[in-house]
Amino acid sequence: MKGVLLHGGLGTRLRPLTHTGPKQLIRVAGKPVSQWVLEDMRDAGVRDIAVILGTLSPLRVVEYYGDGGWLGVRITYIYQGYPYGLAHAVYLARSFVRDEPFIVCLGDNIIASGLKEYVKAFEESDADAMILLARVPDPRRFGVAVFDEKGRLVGLVEKPKKPPSNYALVGVYMFRDGTVFEEIEKLRPSWRGELEITDALQALIRRGLKISYAVVKGWWKDTGTPSDILDANRLLLDERVKEQRIEGRVEEGARVEGRVVVEEDAVVEKGAVVRGPAYICRGARIGEGAYIGPYTSIGVGAVLRRVEIENSVVMDGARLEDAGRIVDSLIGSEAVVTTARGLLPHGHRLVIGERGRVMLHL
Ligand code: DAU
Repeated sequence: MKGVLLHGGLGTRLRPLTHTGPKQLIRVAGKPVSQWVLEDMRDAGVRDIAVILGTLSPLRVVEYYGDGGWLGVRITYIYQGYPYGLAHAVYLARSFVRDEPFIVCLGDNIIASGLKEYVKAFEESDADAMILLARVPDPRRFGVAVFDEKGRLVGLVEKPKKPPSNYALVGVYMFRDGTVFEEIEKLRPSWRGELEITDALQALIRRGLKISYAVVKGWWKDTGTPSDILDANRLLLDERVKEQRIEGRVEEGARVEGRVVVEEDAVVEKGAVVRGPAYICRGARIGEGAYIGPYTSIGVGAVLRRVEIENSVVMDGARLEDAGRIVDSLIGSEAVVTTARGLLPHGHRLVIGERGRVMLHL
């Protein structure tokens, strides 16, 4: 089975974090969100993968994944540019897919249980397509499934004001062959101006094709907003970091407790404390007086000294020094958080990007 990984979009809701790159490259629990997805595809036997690129620093994606060999997959890049919709993105992969079975995954959606069992179920079935659903309390911001009184899937609607069920479309779609491309060709842009994959699936249902579904076990996370990123980080640290792994250096007089990963070239210096579950990426320095509390991920090369931090994501190259106690926070790459103590005039000194958010505890 071939794979199509959507790595485009504008990342509007995550600005300013997405000013320097696509949202799917934001690292949670040590890896970019899209790498978690890609590895789940690989582990489900999908090795030949087209990555669809958008306008936000697409070269950073190519630089990061290369030909995919280091992850055990083969990557073909396809440039989408402006995000005209999921169906538009999928359509661009038609000559890559040809008439083979393929799976489409959104690069910002992670499923607790991985993809293996669903791919297997589809491969063993006679369905023309398969979707994954998750039960959610308020499905209005998703595609939503419509069932008849016998529980059969009879329709799909994108972001309905009045949801016909509580079953949201998870960003994973499987197709037996290239039939869906015929339906995409006939699509018109939706009210939000996009070619919707939901509408293409609806057309397949109308055509009488067999669309099967599975309800995902465990959590599913669409990492579209800052609080989603923190949730995904927490869930992944819980689910996928099973034991302590120290590849870097933990100095004498430092304390590393519980499920903590310290990657190579990372240093936990004397006087620092790291309490898991936590992830310290390569090259990071956890310096004296730093306390890294549970559910925190520290990005590549980040430096922390005299700061307490918990339930947070610190992105690559950020520096936090003499910064008090930080909780539930997302710190962008290369950002600096430090004290203004001793400086005159008194006051907070801030450089905050568009859509930045600062909550001061005074
Ligand atoms: O998260 C699941 C939902 O994803 C589904 O329930 C919806 O049916 C589906 O339409 C989609 O809705 P979103 O509004 O959340 O999609 P979003 O615009 O966030 O795009 C999803 C991913 O696909 C994201 O990683 C960006 C990428 N993308 C998006 C568009 C519109 C592209 O690569 N190209 C595109 O043109």
